[in-house]
Amino acid sequence: MRLTDPRLAAILEREHAAAAAQRAVPHAAREAGRTDFRVSDRQRTSYLSIGRDQGRWLHGLVRATGARTIVEFGTSFGISALYLASAARATGGTFTGTEYHAEKAESARATLAEAGLAEADIRHGDARETLADLSGPIDLLFLDGAKDLYRPMLDLLAPGLADHAVVVADNIAPDRPEIANFLAAINVPEEWTTSILEFEKGGMSFSVRA
Ligand SMILES: C[S@@+](CC[C@H](N)C(=O)[O-])C[C@H]1O[C@@H](n2cnc3c(N)ncnc32)[C@H](O)[C@@H]1O
Repeated sequence: MRLTDPRLAAILEREHAAAAAQRAVPHAAREAGRTDFRVSDRQRTSYLSIGRDQGRWLHGLVRATGARTIVEFGTSFGISALYLASAARATGGTFTGTEYHAEKAESARATLAEAGLAEADIRHGDARETLADLSGPIDLLFLDGAKDLYRPMLDLLAPGLADHAVVVADNIAPDRPEIANFLAAINVPEEWTTSILEFEKGGMSFSVRA
């Protein structure tokens, strides 16, 4: 499905606008408990989504590479999922997302269905469990859940990654201690060819299996 599909385009606009409105009004409760995704009110209620430029790039990446098995760690209300699942439709592939908070997972499923992408598989629960039984090979893995779990998720899913797999991770900054072990892994040149790309909201890593 193209991003110009009228129904998808309208839903993306609506969801990006809702995310921006939410960001513009910092809610005290949403700011509390930032550290643990399981009990953080902010993680439970906030979009924390990628920007339009990142979404367009992810969608284009899937289409350009023809990625068929696409997996997302951290779906939230489904904005990035809309970009990835529509691209999966175009390549004849599948999209599997994961979200810990039930209300978010349910909302993401409803939004995807509204966009005509009901086939997207949104798994509710801790991704360390809900993605443990995934059958590969995974062509594209997008990491956007708890930052300290990027490395454990990469290690968990590595056996199922295709030879040509692409791993993209959001919120990449060299000084974030939570992702230091992940950065160490994707910066081993014998294993990954990695670039850091800058978008409006910050950096994303782009790693291709060496
Ligand atoms: C940054 S948001 C994701 C935004 C989304 N990718 C988008 O662009 O629309 C991170 C989400 O990951 C979820 N999350 C964090 N750790 C998780 C885990 N271990 N399993 C499942 N979901 C998790 C959080 O609840 C939160 O909704």
